[in-house]
Amino acid sequence: MAIRKRMFAAVYDKLAAAEEPKVRQFRERTAGRADGKVLEIGGGTGLNLPFYGSDVQLTVAEPNPHMARRLKGRAQGLGMSVTIVSDVGERLPFQDGEFDSVVSTLVLCSVGDLPGVLKEARRVLKPGGAFYFFEHVAAETKWKRRFQNWFNGPWRYMGDGCNLNRDIAAVIRQSGFESVEIESVDLPGASVVSPRIVGTARA
Ligand SMILES: C[S@@+](CC[C@H](N)C(=O)[O-])C[C@H]1O[C@@H](n2cnc3c(N)ncnc32)[C@H](O)[C@@H]1O
Repeated sequence: MAIRKRMFAAVYDKLAAAEEPKVRQFRERTAGRADGKVLEIGGGTGLNLPFYGSDVQLTVAEPNPHMARRLKGRAQGLGMSVTIVSDVGERLPFQDGEFDSVVSTLVLCSVGDLPGVLKEARRVLKPGGAFYFFEHVAAETKWKRRFQNWFNGPWRYMGDGCNLNRDIAAVIRQSGFESVEIESVDLPGASVVSPRIVGTARA
């Protein structure tokens, strides 16, 4: 398990590189819109860092130490001050209402307890604060969904716990946010890791 986490962190930027030009607009619509005191859940190697405004106070929760090391290096390279904590999104070590914005990109597919993470995201947001998310979700078409279900086991094994077939939009809608806006989007050529959703949920 530990070796797979190390390997995933080592190859993550290379795997993401082909898609990054297409993902950029969604990083702008999530990290790029966050303001004030910001928490990013599952920051990975820090691919969102360049999209944050210069006036945000950023904290990142990243439990994989190999990801966190890369994130720290990227933040230093960008001259950014970032607080990194190793806690999982299911148990955030913060007070209620501490953040103006919470950000999650390509993370909710992998968390152990999706409703638990969303509950925590809502808890740590100030009233009216925004949860910005960009995620890949289960397909709506029957055949693609079947393929995702069939392929989910090996995919999860190779992708450090990533699930292809989660109906993340439905769970966000059921998580007690005051308002939820979700847009279904797709990336050209994204194949099995699609469709995607981008949106904002307000606490
Ligand atoms: C696919 S990567 C995405 C990284 C980054 N957000 C991005 O957009 O490139 C998923 C990240 O979520 C982290 N992660 C997995 N489970 C988590 C959890 N329960 N709480 C917080 N982060 C988690 C992983 O360690 C990994 O860094």
